[in-house]
Formats: sequence, structure tokens, C-alpha cells
Amino acid sequence: MPQIAVSARRGAPDETSADTRVIGLFEGESLPEGPLRALSDSGEASGKPRKLAVTHEDSRRVIVVGLGKRDEFDSEKARVAAAVAAGRARDLSARSLSWEAPAGEGVAGALVEGTLLALYKFDRFKSSPGDDEEADSDGGIESLEVVSEAEVAGAVERASLTAVAQNAARDLQNLPSNVATPSFLASRAEELAQEHPALSFEALGPDEIRERGMGAFMAVAQGSDTEPRLIVLRYEGGGPHLGYVGKAVTFDTGGISIKPAAKMHEMKFDMSGGAAVIEAMGAVAALEIPVRITAVVPSTENMPSGHSMKPGDIVTALNGKTIEINNTDAEGRLILADALAYAVSEGAERLVDLATLTGAIVVALGSTFAGLFSNDDDWCREGEAAASATGELGWRMPLHPEFLELTKGQYADLTNASEQRKASSSYAAEFLRQFVEDKPWVHVDIAGTAWGQGRPYNGSGASGFGVRMLVELAQRVADAAR
Ligand code: BES
Ligand code: MN
Ligand code: ZN
Repeated sequence: MPQIAVSARRGAPDETSADTRVIGLFEGESLPEGPLRALSDSGEASGKPRKLAVTHEDSRRVIVVGLGKRDEFDSEKARVAAAVAAGRARDLSARSLSWEAPAGEGVAGALVEGTLLALYKFDRFKSSPGDDEEADSDGGIESLEVVSEAEVAGAVERASLTAVAQNAARDLQNLPSNVATPSFLASRAEELAQEHPALSFEALGPDEIRERGMGAFMAVAQGSDTEPRLIVLRYEGGGPHLGYVGKAVTFDTGGISIKPAAKMHEMKFDMSGGAAVIEAMGAVAALEIPVRITAVVPSTENMPSGHSMKPGDIVTALNGKTIEINNTDAEGRLILADALAYAVSEGAERLVDLATLTGAIVVALGSTFAGLFSNDDDWCREGEAAASATGELGWRMPLHPEFLELTKGQYADLTNASEQRKASSSYAAEFLRQFVEDKPWVHVDIAGTAWGQGRPYNGSGASGFGVRMLVELAQRVADAAR
């Protein structure tokens, strides 16, 4: 996808060279005195959320988009309005957009995010663009300008950079598992490290994973003919040392505990956590946020084969704990166990993991909230705050000793799946907790939010959920350490 040039400008909104101007209108208010006024007076343009009206001034198109009530307006509403307007602008063959930013905290950046995220498409495998309905209204928007009375250039630039990173994570998600293999993800991480001097890359292959004692990760990886990678990105910006861990199962068949055929194709998205972590690291490095981050992304397929792990197998994880594998489809917690222990052994002081971990979290929270699980109230609040600031909402779910009890194995220290299917998202989180050595940790279960979120700016496909949250969290940690 060609990059959209994004800029900020102060001055008169109508002194733009863009072919399309976008103006937001609050509910119950009128457009400013002048030629556009009749549009709101007549009711053709309204402030109702997402309502659109199109007109022309001189040789330029003007799109008026409803913003809802002024006192309820926030950055998420700005993202939505921008997405709706961008969609219409694209359909009208606009090439250049100029947004007259309404005042408000975070609004200018949100307009950029909403626009860039909404214009994302993944069509590289279509032979001819004529294959789908949007074809003749092809997204030819080349530039976006945000006009504001306030100084927003920095915010606009940051938003543009993180939205591009989020779209890159969506690309990784959308790529099928025969392309986006563990070594492919590793090459992407390496490419980012080459772009940014403060970022360094390392990847461990199967022999090193085994030799270092990551028996849980290796148990999942051994069933596949495609090699696993433990992808490590280290960002050295000074300051507190964070660990970002992301599940990257490039395809989850379930293994010997195989999944039903219906919807199995969706399991190419089981690497969404890893994709978000990798691309967030690129953005953090580009923004030169003053923190240290060790990102650890365990990547493998989960396949049934003659060399697969089998139910009942017992393995030893990096931290010495033994695990009975009673369901090979509970593979995420196995690879994360070793990745979390690895991040701790690398000196990470506070941890976050992102994982499409459990079907149960989709039942509980839908695609609206990710599930947050944490052993530390302060760190969890930071995570929640970062998530709500970016509109990537998180809802805290409980840990409890009774859930912990269910993770005890019959023959080994732990079992990766309990026979009772009770509270399975909390169970999984209790399992992971045993690999973080009491370091402050937040586990983000993104099984419901990684795709199909249905916000106007990310539609029904891959959402890139977590990229902006992780960047925001790093920024908050850096600000607090100042
Ligand atoms: N990747 C799946 C979780 C998942 C399910 C993500 C649906 C997105 C949509 C995970 O590896 C899995 O299979 N979890 C099982 C665990 C169970 C076997 C204990 C689940 O949640 O059903
Ligand atoms: Mn699974
Ligand atoms: Zn999985």
C-alpha cells in the first residue's frame, strides 16, 4: 500500500491545496457563517455521529461529518468520524484530504489514525483490483493535512507513525501461514532492527531453543516441518526495562487435539500478539521513547504429525517447571511460558504479553474489550490507561487461587489444560503467572479483538490491536520515570 503523506498546518482551513476538505459538525450546532451555512441550516448536514454530507466550494469538495455531542467528543469519536469521512472521500475518488481539526485532547492525532487505519487494505493477492466491489473507488488518497489552531505537528507525526506500524501489523496478520512463517516474522523483525540503530535483533532456531531448555516451546514446535524462531528485539532507549512478549503461532491446527474444520482458516491470525509486539517495537524505536524494552516473540506452527507432542507428554520449561500436556490445542501458554521466563532472565522488570489465547475471552468480552489479567494493581492500571487512551479497550478479569489450583498437574508440576473447562481464560492466565517470577505483569488476551473488531476504522478483518497500546504504555512509563 502506498504511504499517505501526512502533515499539519496552522492557518485558514480553506486555504488548502487539497481537493477535499473535511469539516466536523457537532450535534445541535451550525456550520460557520458563510457559503456552507445553508448545509446545516437545511438539515442536510447534521451533527449526528457518522452522518455525512458532501458539497462543493470553488473547485473543492467539502465533506461534513457528524461528530455527536460536543461534550461527549473524545479521541475515539474523532477516529470514527475520520474513518467515515475517509471512506466517503475514497469512494468519491479524492486524492488529497484536509481535515479541519476540532479542538480537544488527542483529537488531531486521532483524526490521522482514523484516516490511515480506515484506508488500509490487503489486496496483494488479487490478480486484478476489479475483483471486489470497492474496485473502481480504489483508495487513491495520497495526502492528509490536519489544520488546527493549536500546535499539533508533533502529535500528527506520532499518530502517523504508529498508525503505519499498526497497518504493518495488520499485513503480518493477513498474510497466510504459508507466507508468514516463523522465519518470515523474524526477517521482518530484523528489517526493523536494520532501520533503527537503537534496536537489535536476535533469533533462536530449533537447536538453540532446545539447548537453552525451552522444552515447552519446543514441544509445540516439534510437530511442524517449518522451523520455529524465538524472535528477540532489544530496544535501548535508556530508562526502565520492560518486557513485551507476543504469541506468534503462525497457524494453530490444535495439533493432535485437532480443531474442527469450520473457521480453522482463521487460525492464521494466531500470531497477532507477536505481530503487534514486533511492529510496536519499530514505532517505539522511531519515536526514540526513553525506555528499554526486551521484546520476545515465540513463533511456531501447531501441527499434527508423526513427531507432534501428544496428550499426556511431560516437558520441562525454561524455569525448570514440569508441564503435563493434556491438550495440544492449549499451545499458546506453552510457548509463552518459555518466552516470559526468557524475558525475565533477560532482566525485564515489568512485563506485558499479548496473545490470542482463549476462545472463552471472546465469549466473555466479545470484540469490544481485550481481557487483562495481572498480578500487580499499579501496573494493570497503567495497562488499562494506555489501552483506553488509544481506544484499544481492556477489561480486567480475575486471577484467583482456585484457578491456580486447576493448573496443578497429576504427574508433573503443571497441566496445560484442566478437565473442567471452568474459567478457562483465568486458568490460562494463572498458568502464565507461574513463569514471571512475581515481576509486575499484565497478560492481554486478544483472541476477540485481534480481528473482526468492527470499528469503522478497522472493519471486519485484522485490527492490529495492541500496537498503539504498547507504544502508549512505553511513553507513559518514560514520562513517569522522568
Ligand atoms: N488460538 C486459540 C485460541 C483462540 C480461539 C483464538 C478462537 C481466537 C479464536 C488457542 O490456542 C486455543 O486453542 N485455546 C483453547 C484452549 C483449550 C484447548 C484449553 C480454547 O480456548 O478453546
Ligand atoms: Mn490452540
Ligand atoms: Zn492458539
